[in-house]
Amino acid sequence: MNKAAVKRIGVLTGGGDAPGLNAVIRAVVKTAVRVYSMSVVGFENGFGGLIKNQAREMSEADVAGILPIGGTILGTTNRDNPFHYPVTRGGETTFVDVSDRVFENISIHGIEALVVIGGDGSLAIANELYDRGMKVVGVPKTIDNDLSATDQTFGFDTALATATEALDKLHTTAESHHRVMVLEVMGRYAGWIALASGIAGGADVILIPEIPYNIDVVVEKINDRSKEKKKFSTIVVAEGAKPLDGDIMVKKKVEGSFDPIRLGGIGDAVAQAVESATGKESRVTVLGHLQRGGSPTAFDRILSTRYGVGAINLVAAGGFGRMVCLKGQHLDSVPLEAAVGELRNVPADGELVMVAKKLGICLGD
Ligand code: F6P
Repeated sequence: MNKAAVKRIGVLTGGGDAPGLNAVIRAVVKTAVRVYSMSVVGFENGFGGLIKNQAREMSEADVAGILPIGGTILGTTNRDNPFHYPVTRGGETTFVDVSDRVFENISIHGIEALVVIGGDGSLAIANELYDRGMKVVGVPKTIDNDLSATDQTFGFDTALATATEALDKLHTTAESHHRVMVLEVMGRYAGWIALASGIAGGADVILIPEIPYNIDVVVEKINDRSKEKKKFSTIVVAEGAKPLDGDIMVKKKVEGSFDPIRLGGIGDAVAQAVESATGKESRVTVLGHLQRGGSPTAFDRILSTRYGVGAINLVAAGGFGRMVCLKGQHLDSVPLEAAVGELRNVPADGELVMVAKKLGICLGD
């Protein structure tokens, strides 16, 4: 048994869920209890639970059997920022700082350090709490894989597997019906899911936010395939993709969310444009939240477990204000500040894009 100065920790999951959250929670609790004799308090529904004091003790029994299960047993939300919290009075909503409630609840539970499992929004809040004196450690989560300070977030591999399977299925029906099948995938402003699933699933066209597309180039690709007697095509479009002469498609604005812009609709726009220019029946599938659900892949289970163990090792070593990360094959850590500074986009001239192009995949440029 190792001795650590911190004897009681809190843990929460924040932002959109991702496969592997439960695996991290399990690793956090097991390592804290078994290796360092720490006790663990879980806060429910992200920072909302910290603000409203919705908390529960977590033992090893509470995390038994959750490794392969999607979602998060703690619940999560991409709202409830304690520094920008909505208060409605007389029908009018204003946003106020309620972070003092967070510090109060942490002290009520006798918690000495907090593990925040989240994406850029949750980690930015974690960093602000750290700046105000809380001992915080972060774990990088998101299916989008767009955090700059780590080579991979957990959740991405599972989302990629789901998108690839969807593309495989669309492929066969596209071929049977001689159609163009468009698959719209998530990823926010980064094209990692689209590019990787497009390569893995043998797409003919991949459109990503980092390379604004020319619809004429896409149409030419479909027509060229028709001339080669390939009567069907598959197109993967990232939700954040945009045409050369246009902008990203916003479905809705959600005030109070960590990311108030809800993307969507580009798949439909591409399918319509392709159908009217080629005369080929073009159909769209929006994969949506299927990418966030389900059992994590073996890779994500292992990465999540490594992150959970790494986070508690950081707590025990006093490495506060840091986030565990993956550098190449190795587990490492970086200051939270660096983790939330900028998003990691697909390099437009990077190796993965070049690989796609060498195979003849059209990137719309
Ligand atoms: O960040 C993860 C993600 O799934 C994005 O890919 C997507 O744009 C967004 O969250 C959707 O969020 P929500 O579930 O709030 O609609």
